[in-house]
Amino acid sequence: MATNLLSLLLSLCLSASCTANAARGAPPTPLSRRDSTGYVNPVTNGGSMLTNAPNTYPAGLGEPLNAIISGNSDSDVLSLTGDSGLNNYFLSIGFGTECLGIHEGDAQTANLGDGKGTVNETAEIRWDYYNPGLGTCTETQQGGNHFRYWVQNGTNVNTGAIFMAVSYELPLAQNHDIVPNGYNLGRDWLVGNATSRNITTSDYSTSGGTQFSGSTSYNGWTYQTTATYTTGLLNATSDGINHYATVAVNGQPAIDGLVAVLEVKVTQKGSGSSSSSNKTSAAPSLVYSPIQYLTLALVAPIIAFFALYAAL
Ligand SMILES: *[C@@H]1O[C@H](CO)[C@@H](O)[C@H](O)[C@H]1NC(C)=O
Ligand SMILES: *[C@@H]1O[C@H](CO)[C@@H](O)[C@H](O)[C@H]1NC(C)=O
Ligand SMILES: *[C@@H]1O[C@H](CO)[C@@H](O)[C@H](O)[C@H]1NC(C)=O
Ligand SMILES: *[C@@H]1O[C@H](CO)[C@@H](O)[C@H](O)[C@H]1NC(C)=O
Ligand SMILES: *[C@@H]1O[C@H](CO)[C@@H](O)[C@H](O)[C@H]1NC(C)=O
Ligand SMILES: *[C@@H]1O[C@H](CO)[C@@H](O)[C@H](O)[C@H]1NC(C)=O
Repeated sequence: MATNLLSLLLSLCLSASCTANAARGAPPTPLSRRDSTGYVNPVTNGGSMLTNAPNTYPAGLGEPLNAIISGNSDSDVLSLTGDSGLNNYFLSIGFGTECLGIHEGDAQTANLGDGKGTVNETAEIRWDYYNPGLGTCTETQQGGNHFRYWVQNGTNVNTGAIFMAVSYELPLAQNHDIVPNGYNLGRDWLVGNATSRNITTSDYSTSGGTQFSGSTSYNGWTYQTTATYTTGLLNATSDGINHYATVAVNGQPAIDGLVAVLEVKVTQKGSGSSSSSNKTSAAPSLVYSPIQYLTLALVAPIIAFFALYAAL
């Protein structure tokens, strides 16, 4: 028990969080894919920028795909396998998989025009109330920001981009409807979480082009996100939008038509494998900070004592 605690303390301090300031070169990024936007508008190949929500009234309404992680992002970020891929990026911006893996409600579907046709969401992800452990359970109960996502990786179009339907929902007791202005607010708060700044409508132009940039970290991985507010993918409209009557505010349409396109680069790799890269830059650093040396000096004799004790 005591040794467990000690090794926990030690690993906490010697792990990536403590070495966060140790100098490591940023990994090289491929330049070849930067010439395009890193996604293809689903509409150009028979898809849609609206999801299909089940059981809507009237039938056939959907939710806007109002944020996209561009396929120009680093391959680690776009990887859906391994501990250090997309889910780790989501955790860095304060979003986690659903409460205890429980999913309530029917899946939404979408057609990204990539050749897969209309398919179920890959996953539903919730804001974690600053608690990566059980915070998404708070979200499920109290409502909050959340999104569903789909990957544009069919055989016709394979950008690897992640299309996200972001909205801020009411508590479970109110059937998880969307709060007033909840699509635009959900998008802005997600971008705010990813770039570490509060974003309000006065910060961006409705004609698009505004960029926000900032960095986030989780589990030793640090990401630089650049969000570009983009027009031309969605209209500023209430047509076809789920919950349009309660979401629209101040005589404005339910959605403002802006899509936040996120380009995410890894600026520091932590430990843990990812499917697409070598772990070379995650090799343990031999250069420790003064605090780490101090911790080592304090903890080492105690560990030695317990080791001796266990050996006897
Ligand atoms: C899509 O999700 C629904 C539940 O909402 C499930 O019944 C169905 O089997 C899923 N389809 C596929 C192809 O996974
Ligand atoms: C697309 O991505 C999904 C989610 O990772 C995966 O299940 C599927 O196999 C991928 N499809 C292709 C054609 O790579
Ligand atoms: C992060 O997200 C929460 C919940 O959506 C929101 O209340 C908060 O303002 C966001 N933080 C920033 C800096 O945008
Ligand atoms: C965002 O605004 C809230 C409330 O005004 C404040 O507590 C928080 O520090 C702000 N966050 C950032 C990143 O500016
Ligand atoms: C926006 O609305 C116009 C006029 O109804 C339509 O032609 C266009 O396809 C719409 N664009 C999108 C992205 O839905
Ligand atoms: C990954 O590491 C192995 C063994 O060190 C090496 O042979 C290989 O070339 C590396 N691959 C890349 C993509 O760097």
